[in-house]
Amino acid sequence: MKAAAVLLGLAWLALAPGALGATPPAKKPVAAKKTATPPKTAAARKPAAVKKPVPAKKALPAPPKPADVTARKPAPAPLPAVSDGAHDERELIKMPSPARLALRAEMRDRMAALDAVLQRLNEGKVEEAGQIAQLRLGIAVWWNHTRLPANAQPEPYMPPAMQTLALDGYKAASDFATVALTGDRHTATAMLPQLTGSCTQCHQAYRIR
Ligand code: HEC
Repeated sequence: MKAAAVLLGLAWLALAPGALGATPPAKKPVAAKKTATPPKTAAARKPAAVKKPVPAKKALPAPPKPADVTARKPAPAPLPAVSDGAHDERELIKMPSPARLALRAEMRDRMAALDAVLQRLNEGKVEEAGQIAQLRLGIAVWWNHTRLPANAQPEPYMPPAMQTLALDGYKAASDFATVALTGDRHTATAMLPQLTGSCTQCHQAYRIR
């Protein structure tokens, strides 16, 4: 505002003597306008100069190869003569089909719950993340299994080392839940690797089929 007022004042001063002087009043206002305008035009030109390299960048990404990959037909996949397990170095844990199905169903829910926890944390809904972990990843899940028919409970078929890993995972989730329920996002986030690490450890060591 002040700068504009000063410019107006200067313009008026430039005009005023011209108006007082008799002959060339028309020329001086033109000169006054020129001195007021240069900052504006200079500022307007700068962005135009910056815009020029942008179209050049747009021309860079041109890899249409993913389309070719999906178009490629895979080799036919016959049923394996030898089960995959022969090439799988993880320890095979034998359990009845209902227990296997129950374990895999629980695992898929653990994955979905972990996904929901991360989304809530990212949205700043820390307490909600804690509730999800408490109900679907924590110790509560272990107790829920005891309500299943005996042949659908995975835990009794697990060797002690695997049971320990399972319990560590439930505990890590419950610990995370306890902190997240206080709303402490920073500490809760720092505890997540303990939880995801338990998933990884068990998956590296055991299989059930
Ligand atoms: C105590 C061991 C153990 C822990 C801990 C564990 N898993 Fe698993 N998980 C397994 C086993 C065993 C399988 C089945 C592997 C196979 O197919 O032979 C499995 C399979 C899965 C599957 C595939 C399910 C399917 O339909 O076949 C997912 C997804 C999964 N786990 C997610 C998780 C996530 C996420 C966590 C951690 C929050 C976790 N698991 C923790 C043992 C574990």
